[in-house]
Amino acid sequence: MSIPFITAEEAASYIKNGDNVAFSGFTASGTPKVVTVALAERAKKLHEEGKPFKINVFTGASTNDHVDGELARANAVAIRTPYQSHSDMRKSLNSAEMNYFDLHLSHLSQDLRYGFYGDIDVAIIEATEMSPNGEVILGAGLGMTPTIAQLAKKVIIEYSSYYRNSFRGFHDNYVPQDPPHRREIPIYKPSDRIGSTVLKIDPKKIIGVVPSNASESIKPFTAPDEVSQRISENICHFLASQLREGRIPKEFLPIQSGVGNVANAVLYGLGENPEIPQFEMYTEVIQDAVMHLMEQGRCKFASTCALTFSDDAMLHFMDNIDFFRDKVLMRPGEISNSPEIVRRLGLIAMNTALEADIFGNVNSTHVLGTKMMNGIGGSADFCRNAYLSIFSCPSIQKGGKISTIVPMVSHLDHSEHSVKILATEQGVADLRGKDPRQRAETIIENCVHPMYKELMWDYLKLSKGGHTPHTLKAAFALHHAFSEKGDMLEADFAKFV
Ligand code: COA
Repeated sequence: MSIPFITAEEAASYIKNGDNVAFSGFTASGTPKVVTVALAERAKKLHEEGKPFKINVFTGASTNDHVDGELARANAVAIRTPYQSHSDMRKSLNSAEMNYFDLHLSHLSQDLRYGFYGDIDVAIIEATEMSPNGEVILGAGLGMTPTIAQLAKKVIIEYSSYYRNSFRGFHDNYVPQDPPHRREIPIYKPSDRIGSTVLKIDPKKIIGVVPSNASESIKPFTAPDEVSQRISENICHFLASQLREGRIPKEFLPIQSGVGNVANAVLYGLGENPEIPQFEMYTEVIQDAVMHLMEQGRCKFASTCALTFSDDAMLHFMDNIDFFRDKVLMRPGEISNSPEIVRRLGLIAMNTALEADIFGNVNSTHVLGTKMMNGIGGSADFCRNAYLSIFSCPSIQKGGKISTIVPMVSHLDHSEHSVKILATEQGVADLRGKDPRQRAETIIENCVHPMYKELMWDYLKLSKGGHTPHTLKAAFALHHAFSEKGDMLEADFAKFV
C-alpha cells in the first residue's frame, strides 16, 4: 500500500473543530514541528471569518513552540493536558482562555485507552524511518505514541530527515494490557527490553506523510549558578553519607532526575563525587549532563522516555551514536514513569519544588497558590513510589522577597507522606521517621534562609497544640504579606498571638 506525501496545509485540513488530537513525543523531543504551524494558521483564518476552531490537545508531556506556542497564540486550544511549560500556553490557561487539567504523566495513555476523554480523532506522529506497511522508527521522544497510534482514527506522519543517523534500536515500544487483564510489567533492571524497536501503525489509518527537517530547537543549559551548585553539593554529600551508613546499597540505586538547571547540576555533582559508584538511571528525560557522564564512564545506562538534548548535544550524540547504542533505551511514558517499576527498582527520585512547607508538603505547580507554572509532570509518579524521594529548591526567590519554605503550602502536589528529603542551598532536612513538629524543627534549622528563620520559629510558637502545630488564621500570612506589600518578610505573627 502506498502512503502519499502531502503538505502540512493539506494535513491540517483533516483536523476539525472540536477534534481530540494527540501528539507523539515527550518534551520537544519527538514532537511534531510542521503540521501544527499550518493548523494554527488555519485556526487564525477561520477566526477572522467568524468561525469557531479549537482542538483538544493530548501530549506525552511538554512540547515545543511549534505545538504549544503556535496553538496558544492562535487561540486554537479548548482543552490541554497533561503538562506544558510554554510561556504563551501558560498565559492562556491562566487567563481561562482554555481548560487545562494537570495530570500525572504515567496516567494519560491508560486514561485514553479507558475512554475517559473520548475518541482520539487524529494522531500526529513524528517518524524518522517508515516502511509502506506502516512500520515506523520514532524519533528522540516516545511519550504516548504506541497508545495513540493504536487508538487514533486517523494518523498523520511527520517524516523527519533531520537526523544524520538511524534511531533504530533505541526504542522499546510497549503497551500494557488494561484491567482486569493487566499483568506485571517485566522490567527488573533499567536495561531490560520488553517491547519492540519498531512501531506498527495500521497503514489504512495513515492519511499522509508530511516531510520535515526541523531540529528539536532545544537550547543548551547555562552553567549552574552558585545556588544550584550548593544545592547539588548538599544532595551529593547527603547521598554519599547514606551510602557510608548502609542506608543505600553499596551498588547504589537507579536515579530519576527531574528537568532544569538544578537537576543538571546534581547529576554533574554525582559524576564528580568519588564516593558515588557508577550509576544507572531510570527516568523520564535525559539531558546533556547524562550524555557527558556516559562518556566519562560515570553513568552506565539510562532508561528514559526522551533524549532532551540541546541541538549541539544531539548532533554530538548522532556523531557518536554507536557508543550509546547499548547505554540508552527510550520507553513510553507510562513505562518510564510506571509506579510499579519505580517501586521495584528502588529509585532515588530527585525533583524540584516551587514551594515547600515546614511539615514537608510540596507545591510543584502553583505560584502563590493560583497561577499554574507547568504542571505536576512525572514528579508524583516517581516520588510517591521511590526508595528515596528528594525535593529541592532555592530557599528564597525574587531577591529574598519570597521564602520558598512557608508555614503551609498554597497548593499541594506532594504530601508529607511522599517527601522523604528536602534540600535547599542552606542544607538538607531528612524527614524520615519524624513527626510533624520534629519535621518543622529540622526544616527550619536546615533549609530555611537565615532571613526567614525567626519568622518560621514565631509561627511554630503560635500553636496551641495538636499533632500538626498549625494556626489556620496565620498559615498564609507570608503569602498575604507578599500579595499586599510585595515582600513575605513583612509578615507579622504578633497580631495572631
Ligand atoms: N513563589 C513565587 N514564585 C516562585 C516560587 C515561589 N515559591 N518559586 C519559584 N518562583 C518563580 C521564580 O522566581 C522564577 O520566576 P522567573 O521566571 O520570573 O524568573 C520561576 O518561578 C521559575 O523558578 P525556577 O527556580 O527557575 O524554577 P525551575 O526552572 O527550577 O522549575 C518547577 C521549577 C517546579 C517549576 C519545575 O521543576 C516543574 O515544573 N516541576 C514540576 C514537574 C516536574 O517535577 N517534572 C519532572 C518530573 S520527572
